[in-house]
Amino acid sequence: MAAAPDNSFAAPVSPGARPPAGPVLVTGATGFIGRAFAASLRREGIALRCLVRDPRRALAVGLPASELVHGSLDQPESLGPAVEGASAIVHLAGATRALDAAGFRRANAEGTAALAAAAAGRSPGLRFVQVSSLAAAGPSPDGRGTGAAPSDCRPCSRYGQSKLDGEREVLARADRLDWCVIRPPIVYGPGDDGTRLLVKQALGWVSPVPSVRRPLSLVHVDDLVAALRLALASTGVHGFFPIDGPERSDTSSLVAAIAAAAGRRARCLPIPMFLARGAGHLADLVHRIRGVPGFFCADKLREASAVGWVADPVPARERLGFTARIAIAAGFAATFAAEPELLGSARINPAGG
Ligand SMILES: NC(=O)c1ccc[n+]([C@@H]2O[C@H](COP(=O)([O-])OP(=O)(O)OC[C@H]3O[C@@H](n4cnc5c(N)ncnc54)[C@H](OP(=O)(O)O)[C@@H]3O)[C@@H](O)[C@H]2O)c1
Repeated sequence: MAAAPDNSFAAPVSPGARPPAGPVLVTGATGFIGRAFAASLRREGIALRCLVRDPRRALAVGLPASELVHGSLDQPESLGPAVEGASAIVHLAGATRALDAAGFRRANAEGTAALAAAAAGRSPGLRFVQVSSLAAAGPSPDGRGTGAAPSDCRPCSRYGQSKLDGEREVLARADRLDWCVIRPPIVYGPGDDGTRLLVKQALGWVSPVPSVRRPLSLVHVDDLVAALRLALASTGVHGFFPIDGPERSDTSSLVAAIAAAAGRRARCLPIPMFLARGAGHLADLVHRIRGVPGFFCADKLREASAVGWVADPVPARERLGFTARIAIAAGFAATFAAEPELLGSARINPAGG
């Protein structure tokens, strides 16, 4: 994996948006969003502690050795020492792909339960920013309900269910944690397998898209980092915060915008969802035979078939002071500038890896 790109947006955070003194524990700092988030804290000299399960991989992606704490969500005994003395936790670690529901559940629900229990037990009152997903709230064509409490959420995928179960684990300890839940939509930017697949789709000879247009929210990773910084600093603010980008899209318009940012024209090929779902089941079979989960799978197709994925920006704007700034055209232009190989011979591994 390449070292974290120096994202050109480096979103400035509003004055006063600093966490309390002491190291911030970041989980998932080797991942796409975690690398960008950790880099944002580091740039401002904020002390960091990164929970990593493979220190060699962490060093390879550019995390300094001095920030690393070896541990895993699967090993609850490793979490107490990681939490001890931390000033806050931003919990980004999770599974975005898995072979089955149990795989999602292990990382996203049980792993979150273990971390929240360690935090509530060792450091009651600690700021705990849970990075969930719009998938936990469930589909919405107009944003309504995306900030709902877990009892009113309606996820349509195994991934979404596991993220919702993770939220419930945090909420179960709400009396001992200064909690807040962030629900990002699709996040894009340099250094991400999902973005690479999207770009591949947009820049291919033809671009398969759903035959029905469904509204979509998406956010550039630097905007999400700014939202997380505000959530971290907004101690005492509890709630569920969907995150929206500055403009909405749909798959066909998004593919066209990505191609335009690359100076090309997309040739969209509408595909009926039943055919796409069939391909998703076939992909699942291949992933199971290989024993490696993939990004393109039946679970993702369940999400792609939904009525829409629009986030309500109001709670984050009014209570965290967050407004996204990075428009889709500018965000993809910056992504191509940071990762120019996306425009040409990028080899994309749908299995992640
Ligand atoms: N990307 C999106 O579009 C998007 C949208 C909405 C929400 N989210 C949420 O945002 C978070 C980060 O997403 P991402 O795209 O950055 O994912 P990612 O690139 O796949 O990174 C996942 C991170 O979680 C870590 N991790 C996984 N299982 C772990 C375990 N058992 N113990 C400790 N660490 C573990 C991984 O560590 P290793 O390096 O050891 O594998 C990696 O650092 C996730 O919770 C995801 O659900 C993402």
